[in-house]
Amino acid sequence: MKITSKQLRQKWIEFYESKGHVNIGAVSLIGDGSTGVMFNVAGMQPLMPYLLGKKHPDGTRLCNIQGCVRTVDIESVGDPSHFTFFEMMGNWSLGDYFKKEKTAWTFELLTKVFGLDKDKLCATVFEGNKSVPRDEQTAELLKGLGIKPEHVYFMPKSDNWWELEGTVGTPCGPDNEWFYPLDDGKKSPVFPDDYVEIGNDVYMQYKKTADGYEPLENKNVDTGFGFDRMLLFLNGLSDGYKTDLFLPVINELENISGKRYDDGGENAKAMRIIADHTRTSVMLIGDSQGILPSNTGAGYILRRLLRRAIRYCRQLDTASDAIIKAAEIFIDKIYDQAYPLLKEKKDYILSEIKREADRFEATLAQGMREFDKCVNSIERKNEFMAKSNPEYVKETVISGKQAFRLYDTYGFPSELTEELAAERGLSVDREGFEAAFAEHREKSRVLEAGQFKGGLESHSEAATKYHTATHLLNAALKIVCSPDIQQKGSNINEERLRFDFNFSRKLTAEEVAEVEKLVNRQIELNLPVVMREMSLEQAREQGFTGVFDSKYGENVKTYAIGEFSKEICGGPHVESTGVLGTFKIAKQENVSAGIKRIKAILI
Ligand code: ALA
Repeated sequence: MKITSKQLRQKWIEFYESKGHVNIGAVSLIGDGSTGVMFNVAGMQPLMPYLLGKKHPDGTRLCNIQGCVRTVDIESVGDPSHFTFFEMMGNWSLGDYFKKEKTAWTFELLTKVFGLDKDKLCATVFEGNKSVPRDEQTAELLKGLGIKPEHVYFMPKSDNWWELEGTVGTPCGPDNEWFYPLDDGKKSPVFPDDYVEIGNDVYMQYKKTADGYEPLENKNVDTGFGFDRMLLFLNGLSDGYKTDLFLPVINELENISGKRYDDGGENAKAMRIIADHTRTSVMLIGDSQGILPSNTGAGYILRRLLRRAIRYCRQLDTASDAIIKAAEIFIDKIYDQAYPLLKEKKDYILSEIKREADRFEATLAQGMREFDKCVNSIERKNEFMAKSNPEYVKETVISGKQAFRLYDTYGFPSELTEELAAERGLSVDREGFEAAFAEHREKSRVLEAGQFKGGLESHSEAATKYHTATHLLNAALKIVCSPDIQQKGSNINEERLRFDFNFSRKLTAEEVAEVEKLVNRQIELNLPVVMREMSLEQAREQGFTGVFDSKYGENVKTYAIGEFSKEICGGPHVESTGVLGTFKIAKQENVSAGIKRIKAILI
């Protein structure tokens, strides 16, 4: 290694300390609730109030290395360049220095401290638009420092503007990105294809508003250089799992399994998944506000990470103990200095991982039963049909939906389902599986983007059921209490639904019983839930209800539950009501004059 991770940490902090910055250290990885995000997703996130103008106790020049967790791409982890945990090397000017000092210092750090060749450095700056001027000043400063004029590029907002998407009231601004040729030896690299982005300096002078941007009082600088990526790049490596942040773990996995990482293919993929997910899990459990696996929110993400790692132990033909071994190496050897808390909490972290592994083994056993049920029903159907129709062509395929359910609920990788299916003379609809997967991934993406706005929502199975139950409740209230009842608010989590509606008084005990009976009757009938997209006009004509205001676009999604309920809604919903279980009103509350609230559960 040309530079170790421990050296890189030290160099970053020492350099900025020498420029008058205070190292403020890292904060917890778990979101503090102020932004609605589950995890800290950017180095600047904890600094947000200070970038907006609040006085920081440590002054106006700050630096640190901050851990971040981004889990939207969990399923992409397995290649050499995706990770769910990474660290950001950051430094900030809170209304202190600006472009002149910042360009000079980044240039000095890259060329003097890290020894990059100034003739190879490239930089991009903001080309300007209607509301924000072209960043000529930064471009001139960069050229003045010695970057070749033809290596300074003006780029549009899509490239050189930094903001937290989906937020309002957060700081943002044009940025200056730094690039270096991926292969240092290449004669004439072409920008940007042959270059790697090594970091960026954001000139945070604006605040994002609901419909645009307004200038901030302070002109701030927000610098972010990816620690893991920088380490990779400075060592001339291209596989993120070959730096000293991972290599000892990869080597241990090779020892345990007797398989070689460098052989590539499925074994390398499994090693990467185990290494990445174990690292993030260790960080989340061992955090100062540590969490544990559960079925909601951040705990659910942690559960998914651990279970995915455990599943891939099978690929290596190893027991899930491999994860414990990997966790120990992260704690004792790799992050021992940067995260001493992990060592303090070591026994706790390891025992919680073990506990989750044991629980998962039990779930897998349940999954096997589910798999058997699924195959038995295909076999029964074949037998029955063949009896009545000698020309009947036997069904030999497990549907994509069924395979995805086995994957999502019981953690069955599709390959495992395929193997088991083959043993029973069946195959799996792979395309259907991929389609169900893509739909699920899109839902997660929307969810993660929406977290900035909507707090912790979840499209888990439980929450989906509550969405459908809410429609049934809405319709039942109209029948039992008053046709004028309308939804005034709704909130759903894994444990209950909450529904606000216009009504002058609490429901009587009889009305509660009547509403419950009516909803449960619809569940018993196993009514289909049918989604159709149509224009708002059509939806209105066909009797779909909803809050008819401008929040709907041209086309709306409508959900009909048999003839019982017709609502405009974004979903998600179950396919038919039979899966909802038993509906029970748990509580009634007053929200305000004329608005009542019901909390209800499914058991
Ligand atoms: N906020 C900037 C980033 O995350 C520095 O890249």
